[in-house]
Amino acid sequence: MKAELIKTTAGGIKVFAIENDNGMRVELLSYGAIISKLLVKDKNGELVDVVAGYDDQDEYKSDACYFGALIGRVGNRIEKGRFRLDGAEYSLAHNDGNNHLHGGVNGFNKKEYNAEIVGASSIKFSRISPNGEEGYPGTMTVAVTYTLLNDDALEILYEATSDKTTICSLTNHSYFNLNGDFESVLEHDVCLKASCLTDVDGELIPHGELLNVKGTPYDFTAPKKVGRDIECDDRLLNVARGYDFNYVLDKGSADDVKAYAHGDKSGILMQVFTDRPCIQFYTGNFLDGVKGKKTYGYQSALCLETQGYPNAINVPSFDSMVLKTGRKYQTKTKYVFSVE
Ligand code: GLA
Repeated sequence: MKAELIKTTAGGIKVFAIENDNGMRVELLSYGAIISKLLVKDKNGELVDVVAGYDDQDEYKSDACYFGALIGRVGNRIEKGRFRLDGAEYSLAHNDGNNHLHGGVNGFNKKEYNAEIVGASSIKFSRISPNGEEGYPGTMTVAVTYTLLNDDALEILYEATSDKTTICSLTNHSYFNLNGDFESVLEHDVCLKASCLTDVDGELIPHGELLNVKGTPYDFTAPKKVGRDIECDDRLLNVARGYDFNYVLDKGSADDVKAYAHGDKSGILMQVFTDRPCIQFYTGNFLDGVKGKKTYGYQSALCLETQGYPNAINVPSFDSMVLKTGRKYQTKTKYVFSVE
């Protein structure tokens, strides 16, 4: 097991790598706390890079897809970028039509982090987000620690505190293609331990209604090919041009597998464990031939973004995303790889 700084780019980005005893390897950037490479063994024992990204790390500075990045202060959408907190009205950037998405124009994905190698298997990225950054209240101290384990698990620990009550819901935005070829994810099997998703309007904003997925094209409670129902002529699939929905995880323990995906060609299985209540299942419907390590076309990759309820600050029935002064935001997500 070894964690090290491997280079600093012309643009000043520090590139780190952690490798475990089986040869699984992750590369991480001080910019955006990005996962830029994730090399996992396939059924033939060959290492396959299962995440989308760029060969030249400095290109992440102009990325518009959030490839591999830490997302904050609030992942997903906030209706009209507006919310009330402690009697004050806040207004955030409209960077997704009429709405606020993934922390704004220069969210946590566009920042440089202090990086620290912690022991032989972890890298910790941290930063102070000033009061008012992207319109959010409070000076927030944020840290994300990536740990690679010898059981081929990549664990992500998110931590945050604020000197003033604010809102917080962090995630990582890796795009996976478990075959590593980034041709299509339609033949991947996916399973989501979620009987409901948060219904959305035509702008992908949830308002509190839950949709029971049982027996619908949105049902992934048993493993199913991503492509099986994706072409169904159904309201939500038409709005999102594929899957792009917040699945509400069935109650259980953080030790239960909450979701998994399986690459049909590679045999690589990725299991997701999390203490977050929800997962955004997104099938890369906005990818349109983005050039990076590969060319990323429509539905060539999928995301399983562990998160709190989207737009929760405007929907009282959703679990709160408020982070109070003196409290610590601390959550964990783990992606575990094997071959099946
Ligand atoms: C999330 C959203 C999608 C899209 C991507 C980034 O997954 O739910 O609608 O905005 O991020 O392109």
